Amino acid sequence: MRDRLLSALTQLPDALAKDLSPILRRPEFDASLSANEMATLCQNHQMNEADMALALLPLAAAYAMPAISQFYVGAIAKGGSGHFYFGANLEFAHVSLAHTVHAEQSAISHAWLRGETTLSAIYINYSPCGHCRQFINELNGAEQITITLPKQPTRAFHDYLPDAFGPSDLNISEPLLAPKDNALTPEMTAAHPLYEAALAAANQSHAPYSHNYAGIACLLDNGQIFTGRYAENAAFNPSLPPLQVALNLINLADCSWHQIKEVYFVEKQGISNQLSHDMQTLCSQVAPQAQFHYHAL
Ligand code: THU
Ligand code: ZN
Repeated sequence: MRDRLLSALTQLPDALAKDLSPILRRPEFDASLSANEMATLCQNHQMNEADMALALLPLAAAYAMPAISQFYVGAIAKGGSGHFYFGANLEFAHVSLAHTVHAEQSAISHAWLRGETTLSAIYINYSPCGHCRQFINELNGAEQITITLPKQPTRAFHDYLPDAFGPSDLNISEPLLAPKDNALTPEMTAAHPLYEAALAAANQSHAPYSHNYAGIACLLDNGQIFTGRYAENAAFNPSLPPLQVALNLINLADCSWHQIKEVYFVEKQGISNQLSHDMQTLCSQVAPQAQFHYHAL
């Protein structure tokens, strides 16, 4: 992965690539840039923030895993804290296309899992599809978010989604990214650390429509644990399931899904739906070696 990132540097202006190379080579580089790092880059290269973020998109797109389309989409989300988070599209062979993660969803869920509660800007190398516009409409403070595309002026997000259908049409006022506690309590007496991590993720999941609160925790062969939270959408189909959120973080951390040893999936079953079959199907394709544990609450 780091090799793909470094080879994407050749798509950047030489001076910028030279400046970024040591940052990307640092072992602790985590597919994000701090507000300070970004400000320094802008100053050193006499570029404004939007032009710099657009210039960096080939690096975000280098994280794409487009097994089916070979179409690389990159996005960068700027969090309310001022930090910048990379994202890229993920496609999965041998399962329904509905499992796909769009670059915008990747960058947004990356920012969410790293503690952001609002976003101020999203930069993307292609125009966001209708599904992504709908996904963005679910976010806390969507009114304040700007969208910037190559060769386009920065626009308010709502210019990209006039006459929006959204959470308020279903009388829902809790937005995605706002801090949550779904008050789920453990059902296992001898709790396992992965179970606890999955339960904590389920407690922070956004499922105001089905109440099918769900979270996942994946243990890698290097001991690292990655979690994922379910993110529902008012239009239902653009919802992002928890395994996809975790797989995205694993990929952005330069790790491989083949490194997953164990998965704990916890969900509170809602009125009619459950995610466990989808999660097991996707898991058995991307990480056939992983042991999958399921806990319904
Ligand atoms: N894609 C995105 O990542 N964002 C968009 O809004 C447009 C489409 C991805 C999804 C899929 O992996 C590939 O591009 C082809 O649609
Ligand atoms: Zn999209």
